[in-house]
Amino acid sequence: MTAEPEVDPVIVAYYNEGRERGRLAAGPSQLERLRTQALLSRFLPAPPARVLDVGGAAGVYAAWLAGRGYQVHLVDPVPLHVEQAREAAAGSFTAALGDARELAEADASHDAVLLLGPLYHLLERADRVRALAQARRVARPGGVVVAAAISRYASFMDGFYREFVDRPGFAAGMADTMRTGRHLNPRREQYMFTTAYFHDRDGLAAEVTDAGLSLEAIMPVEGPLAWAPGLEGRLAEPAQRQLILDSLAAIEHDPAITGASSHLLAIARASPLARGLALDGQGQEVGHGEQPEGVALQRPDAAAGLIVVDARTAGPE
Ligand SMILES: C[S@@+](CC[C@H](N)C(=O)[O-])C[C@H]1O[C@@H](n2cnc3c(N)ncnc32)[C@H](O)[C@@H]1O
Repeated sequence: MTAEPEVDPVIVAYYNEGRERGRLAAGPSQLERLRTQALLSRFLPAPPARVLDVGGAAGVYAAWLAGRGYQVHLVDPVPLHVEQAREAAAGSFTAALGDARELAEADASHDAVLLLGPLYHLLERADRVRALAQARRVARPGGVVVAAAISRYASFMDGFYREFVDRPGFAAGMADTMRTGRHLNPRREQYMFTTAYFHDRDGLAAEVTDAGLSLEAIMPVEGPLAWAPGLEGRLAEPAQRQLILDSLAAIEHDPAITGASSHLLAIARASPLARGLALDGQGQEVGHGEQPEGVALQRPDAAAGLIVVDARTAGPE
């Protein structure tokens, strides 16, 4: 893609501060990285599978995957991220400008597609479903799609664990986010995240299935431990780190734990039977080259087996 993707300048300005390169390497965010890596290790096909890392930022996961023998291509709409990713890659993976809503990659060209961040920044449901449908399109039939979401309750947890609620305006914004999912930072406060959408579990499940993907699970990333006292020290100590990862794995199937996690990971598959369908929230077909534009398609009936839905997680928004 040559033209720069259209992303809200407020979001681009936030990322132009260069936070992403080091974010997952220090502090409590290390748990986000370690748990995401543990889940990816479990759900990705074996190397040398082809992985598309959409919204891969400075290439933290792409570099890790390339080091494990995967063939990785990263796309991100922020030029600084693509530049930093290419530096991190040093030839071990490729990176280019791209937008999750309109991927340049060919149909069925990847064994796995990661969306570890783009859904955060798509405030319209139709855009999020479009991004998921694009991931499905570029995944091979049966390929894995892993999509991250920030929890609807992340501001609530940050607000009290990190005492942000005492800062001017935070409590009102937190209440709005819990009601609408929209997280805004109009004063561009340095301690806060930028413009984003925060998902609840059922809403994420419904978006995944509406994109024509077959949902396998919605997993908690950090569970309730993101702000556990002494977390950083424990993660630095191998036995303690393993205890944390094993404990989270032991309780990850409980939806209550997912609800109390700052990040959620949807694990889905591009079902061969679902190919050719990409639906937005209104049931309109979106973004698939094989379908005529503007044609409304019937949503496949899960009961008829066209899309295999995990009955524990899927539901209307
Ligand atoms: C919080 S960062 C996460 C980066 C990395 N994947 C990770 O998990 O640490 C969110 C990423 O999504 C990217 N992003 C924002 N809007 C996007 C879009 N429309 N398409 C693809 N990526 C997007 C941002 O540039 C940023 O790199």
